[in-house]
Amino acid sequence: MEKLKGLILSGGAGTRLRPITHTSAKQLVPVANKPVLFYGIEALVAAGVGEIGIIIAPETGAEIEAAVGDGSRFGAAITFIGQDEPKGLAHAVLTAEDYLGSDPFVMYLGDNLLRDGITELVQAFRSSEPDAMILLTSVLHPEHYGVAELDGDRIVRLIEKPVDPPSDLALVGVYMFTSKVFAAAKAIQPSPRGELEITDTIQRMVDDGLRVDSHRVKGWWKDTGQLADMLEANRLVLEEGSRRIDGELIDSTVEGRVVVEPGAVLERTTVRGPAVIGAGARITNSYIGPYTAVGEDVVIEASEVEHSILLAGCEVRDLPSRLEASLLGREVKLARSDRLPKTLRMIVGDRSEITLA
Ligand code: DAU
Repeated sequence: MEKLKGLILSGGAGTRLRPITHTSAKQLVPVANKPVLFYGIEALVAAGVGEIGIIIAPETGAEIEAAVGDGSRFGAAITFIGQDEPKGLAHAVLTAEDYLGSDPFVMYLGDNLLRDGITELVQAFRSSEPDAMILLTSVLHPEHYGVAELDGDRIVRLIEKPVDPPSDLALVGVYMFTSKVFAAAKAIQPSPRGELEITDTIQRMVDDGLRVDSHRVKGWWKDTGQLADMLEANRLVLEEGSRRIDGELIDSTVEGRVVVEPGAVLERTTVRGPAVIGAGARITNSYIGPYTAVGEDVVIEASEVEHSILLAGCEVRDLPSRLEASLLGREVKLARSDRLPKTLRMIVGDRSEITLA
């Protein structure tokens, strides 16, 4: 098989992770302190795909370009491809047609995370040379995904987010295509949600008698488009981390698989892993519980935090109860004060969510 290119979809509107994604790309929200998108780039490079196009949206493209750079730090040659509007995954593919040319390619959704990467899938595609290959896995709520109906190994039908799913097999956000996908993408109509769906495109390939193979994902897979999935991905990645203490510990206890990055200072603090503490963080008189990712330069004082993601520059002080299952955007300030009257005082951005108990 000829050279294989990569196409990562990192455009879209990110409506479901608002407010975090009002101002920044959902693909840059960190999982265990690394942007989700970077896991995708690394998975492609590990599978031997070093020539990668990244689809970006007008609103968040510059931020993604700045974070990724030219790809040399990943050992990849990266080209950014602007998509004017989020008109669907198949529209994104068509936007990249000039870049992809006649080469077969791996398409990877920039907010997806696969434990075992995609090397096995790429090898299967290279050796069996079908016209397209999809990845499938059993899920609890197939109605949230593209769903496949199989007859043995044969794909009978693919439906995008069906109200009444014919199986529990979801389409994972990694696909492999030959250039035959372009004709199929041009032949379909927008779906009820107004998008050119990749699911309908692949269905079209099946209907046209092309060979579409399926492959089961073995390790875990997460689409991090929603808060609960983001926290779960964070937990799963931290679960497999190791221990490394490069920061400074003063009268502090760090238990288990914890990474403390250089320049972080922990004072009279207990960290119970798995957890990661970003460079330059300052944590004092606090408890950091399992599955917590503390970003760069975060300040935590006299507080307890568990199973949460705190983005760079947050400040958390004197909380009256433990913060958990939370995602704090960049430079969020959360504090308790003893000032009277005893009231709640907040400046909260659009569509934020706060639960007080
Ligand atoms: O995660 C797997 C699911 O991904 C599949 O099961 C579905 O069949 C597939 O349609 C897709 O569903 P989502 O609704 O989760 O796709 P989402 O809109 O979140 O877009 C996925 C990625 O592609 C995301 O990183 C944004 C990017 N994107 C999206 C659109 C609509 C683009 O780059 N351009 C676009 O036009």
